[in-house]
Amino acid sequence: MSGTAAGLRLTVLGAGYLGVAHAACLAELGFDVLGVDTDAGRVSALSAGNLPFFEPRLEPLLRRGLESGRLRFTTSYAEAARFGEVHFMCVGTPQRADSPEADLSQLEACVSALGPLLEVPCLVVGKSTVPVGTAAALAGKLARLAPAGPAAELAWNPEFLREGHAVDDTLRPDRIVAGVQSRHAEAVLRRVYAAPLAAGSQFFVTDLATAELAKAAANSFLATKISFINAMSELCGAAGADVAVLAGILGADPRIGGAFLRPGLGFGGGCLPKDIRAFLASADQAGTGESLAFLREVDAINTRCRARMVDLARDLAGGSLAGTVIGVLGAAFKPDSDDIRDSPALDVAAALHDLGARVTVYDPVALDKARQAHPELGYAGSAVEAAADADVLLLLTEWREFTEADPEILGKVVARRNIADGRNALDEEAWLRAGWDYRALGRPYRAATSQPGPELFARADRGI
Ligand code: UGA
Repeated sequence: MSGTAAGLRLTVLGAGYLGVAHAACLAELGFDVLGVDTDAGRVSALSAGNLPFFEPRLEPLLRRGLESGRLRFTTSYAEAARFGEVHFMCVGTPQRADSPEADLSQLEACVSALGPLLEVPCLVVGKSTVPVGTAAALAGKLARLAPAGPAAELAWNPEFLREGHAVDDTLRPDRIVAGVQSRHAEAVLRRVYAAPLAAGSQFFVTDLATAELAKAAANSFLATKISFINAMSELCGAAGADVAVLAGILGADPRIGGAFLRPGLGFGGGCLPKDIRAFLASADQAGTGESLAFLREVDAINTRCRARMVDLARDLAGGSLAGTVIGVLGAAFKPDSDDIRDSPALDVAAALHDLGARVTVYDPVALDKARQAHPELGYAGSAVEAAADADVLLLLTEWREFTEADPEILGKVVARRNIADGRNALDEEAWLRAGWDYRALGRPYRAATSQPGPELFARADRGI
């Protein structure tokens, strides 16, 4: 096996959003990397340089890695065990179908498959989001299974990347958390992350449990921030106040900060919703559920956002959805991703359909996945096509293509100029000027003809 610029051979187990980004970025940094997935179709697509999902800037890195010979993919754990000095476990830990707990079966399967093949010293590094205590249990399992014994060591190095920003977040992370059981493991991780550390990423060395908690706590905090502002949105709705202005005022306090304080349809995706539920479930099991009880409310507020959005669409439609034509802009759970897992946009679109509306959805990249998951909905090839004849148009994922859309052009094709901005992302005044009735959760209703209120001036610098 050829050596590497950085002198370490790495494997990445699991070729999903996280694994492929990690593998391609490590190859970009000069390591020899072997990506492993049990899905042969995925492995051959990746080996041919085709990304099986949408992630900006990742495909060129994948291709560069393949062309350089530093990046390869396989389905063989035996090959991975022979090749790797460090093995990164990047498999999914989704929510279980029958409970709010995390489904750890992919991680268990990974250690069961790799462990018995590990005959030489190596570091096995977990990156997936897991309940605290999982890493210690897997370390015990590895010690029992690996012929190399304690020389096959386990560490935990949680991943904080955001979909849509995976390349930047992997090459230039804010922080790197090394949950380790020895100085040797710390030294190995310092070698792997030498480039981002030299570029200024913070490095935290800690125990396995703190590393696991770092990730669960971070996602819970982000979810709490979003639900906090959406709870304020409910109050603003009742009081006739404007949550967008309120968010701007709160965010101006540097102790609070404006990030993750954008009110609207709330959080979705494959991480935040299932992570807060799994965190809560694991605390319940450990008898410390009271300390995280607030996460139940965070989840409930978030779920209510979707129901409130359906109510708002019904109001705009004139009180009943039956037979109305609704255009939906956005299907992905957030912009710059084709991920539709627990997508608020698709949830709302499906609910409107169930209530009798004729719903047509457009998304720049998530249409195929949306069509598979919700064949009952209508789909369009452009925003204008989705808006055709609509009684109500909904902006549910804030793709730039939508936030920069011309309200005049869309206004020409709709039946009625009713827009609900589910992400507080549109230029409200531009839409009002173009004759639209503009509605958003937690904000005062202003019909097309109304004059700008004082809150518009207050909002000028809200920076959310
Ligand atoms: C999230 C975390 O941000 C990452 O740090 C973490 O690594 C990742 O989960 C994970 O656990 O793997 P991601 O799910 O890609 O990343 O997406 P976010 O950018 O966190 O957005 C989550 C949801 O919150 C989206 O539906 C977004 O529309 C929503 N959101 C975000 C709001 O409703 N308001 C905001 O102000 C911000």
